[in-house]
Parts: sequence; structure tokens; C-alpha cells
Amino acid sequence: MAAAISVKDVAARAGVSVGTVSNVLNRPDRVSPETRDRVSAAIAELGFVRNESARHLRAGSSRTVGLVVLDVANPFFTDVARGVEDTASAAGLAVILCNTDEKTTKEDAYLELLEEQRVRGILITPADAISDRLTELRRRGTPVVLLDRKAAGRDQCSVSVDDRKGGDLAVSHLLESGHRRIAFVGGPLSIAQVADRLRGARAAVKRAGLPEAALIVTSTLGHNVAAGRLAVQELVTMAKRKAPTAVFCANDLLALGALQELSHRGFRVPADMAIVGYDDIDFASAAMVPLSSVRQPRHQLGRTAAELLIEEADNAAGHKHRQVVFEPELIVRESSTRLRRAPR
Ligand code: RIB
Repeated sequence: MAAAISVKDVAARAGVSVGTVSNVLNRPDRVSPETRDRVSAAIAELGFVRNESARHLRAGSSRTVGLVVLDVANPFFTDVARGVEDTASAAGLAVILCNTDEKTTKEDAYLELLEEQRVRGILITPADAISDRLTELRRRGTPVVLLDRKAAGRDQCSVSVDDRKGGDLAVSHLLESGHRRIAFVGGPLSIAQVADRLRGARAAVKRAGLPEAALIVTSTLGHNVAAGRLAVQELVTMAKRKAPTAVFCANDLLALGALQELSHRGFRVPADMAIVGYDDIDFASAAMVPLSSVRQPRHQLGRTAAELLIEEADNAAGHKHRQVVFEPELIVRESSTRLRRAPR
């Protein structure tokens, strides 16, 4: 690969100093139109491209923000990313999207890369607890906003949804529909927002005066369609008198997998098994049996997080950290509507 064209090559071609080329690039108002034209012609002839990363290293930060999510294949995160990108691009910033697959090792590697790239700031859904690297990175001056996770203290910005309330809404709805044995499908519970949904589900069962065993917790290894199908394979092998009549899934991909597996095995939804998911991604309403789901304001989550990050990056001294918590909303559709139970 040919050596990159330097500012020095442009200066020699245009017959001006390196300083004049730098002025044309960064402070064009300080250069006469005639000289500007000569330098621009030399840049075009040589195919010069400015080295942004060197400039950013000198300036201390780049025109990018990092977005670290758990699963880019999950429409929840792509909807959130859209909110981030809309806000970042309006501020002249590009977004570096990092997918951790819920693995702390990948998260750590991406945080190191993003700091080396001198990003203006990082939006992150942590794969587990807040890591030492993330804490260190903030201490060294990179703004961080927790996304889809509430900050433990008031010294950090975060944008999240009240997931305990969301879990409570989902299971209260199933209890009010007459269900008395409900499965919770989700995990690993190291994902705090998923653990909160389970806490909310348990609170609803307790408030209804039912024993904790009325909620059958089925842990999964991930939050995708395949894990939802596997979880149902376990539930349908239970003895009839112990098997649940409804399932609350920690997200819509699990719920879509549950719906697929139940239908594949000849179960009717909701007559034989009601389903409620979480996120209310577009596929939920488009499913073959439209899914009830707990809606998260996905685009607003992303937009709000990006606004907080840019505000802190542009004015660290005057910035006040905020922990924004949105309300979940239960959307009831066919997959859990109360039906007169047909004989089976
Ligand atoms: O990544 C698992 C889930 O956590 C997502 O579906 C979304 O609900 C997030 O909060």
C-alpha cells in the first residue's frame, strides 16, 4: 500500500508552508481565497485524506461515541441504537456499535478499544455488575451513561425502565386472567434488568396471596428464540397437575420461541398456555398469535441516554448527573386474553 499523502506533500505541491495547509483545513477564514484554492487543488491532485485519529489524539477525543449492547440481533437493542444514532448524528457524532453477547470478557475488550479510540463517551448495557475497567475508564475522564440499567448512586447518569414494575404488571395480568401456575422464563439473572422482572413477578404472586411455588422459574442461557423453545420443551414435560397454564418471558424473543414451540407441539395459545413477553418489539404484534408484552420506550431510551452523554462530554464541569427511569406499559393482545377454557 502506497505511503499515505502527508500535509508536507500537499504544502510542497501548493508551494506554501505546512502551517498554511493546516490553516486551510482547520481555520480557512485565515487564508486568502487564492491560497485556499491552490491548497485545495493540491489536496485533490494528491488524494490527501486528513488523519482524523492523529488529530483526535492531539485534541484528546474523537467525533465518535461508543454504544455497548448485549445482543445486536435483539430488535430491542437495534431500536435503542436508532434513538442513540438519531441524537448523535444531529450532534455531528458517529456511533461505534459493540456487541458483547452478554459476555464480560467481550465487554472488557470493547471498553479498552473504545478508550484507545478516544471516544467522546460510552453508552453501555453492562453484561453483569459494573466492571473495574468501566469504573477506571470513568475515573480517567471518559463520560459513561448506563443504558437499560439504573445507576446505584447519583454520581453517574443512567437511563432505564422500572423493570420490577414491568414484571409485576405482566404477572398481575395473568393472575387476573385466572392463572394460578405461571412460569417465568429468563436468565441468566446476572442481567440485572431480567432479575428485576423476576422480582416484580414474585411480588405480584405474593400480593395475590399465593405461595412462591405458584411461579415456576425456568432459567435460560440467553434471551433469544432458541432459548425460548428449549424452555417450553421443559415446561410441557411437567405433570399436567403441575404444569403452568401461562408463561411470562423476560423478553419478546424468548416469548416468540415459546409460541413457536407450543404451536409446533399442538398447544393452543392462549387456551392451553397464555404468553406474555417483554419489550414490545415490532415482531410481538406481528406474531402468528399477537403477543401480549410489556412495552419499553426503546427509541426514547436511546435518545435520552445519548442526550445525557453529549451534555456531559460537552460540559463536564456544569453537568448534573441524572438517573432517568421510564415507566413500563402492559400491552394486552391475543396471546394472553382471558378465554373461556374449551375442554381439552
Ligand atoms: O437483553 C435481554 C433484555 O434486556 C432485552 O430483551 C431487553 O428487555 C433488555 O432490557
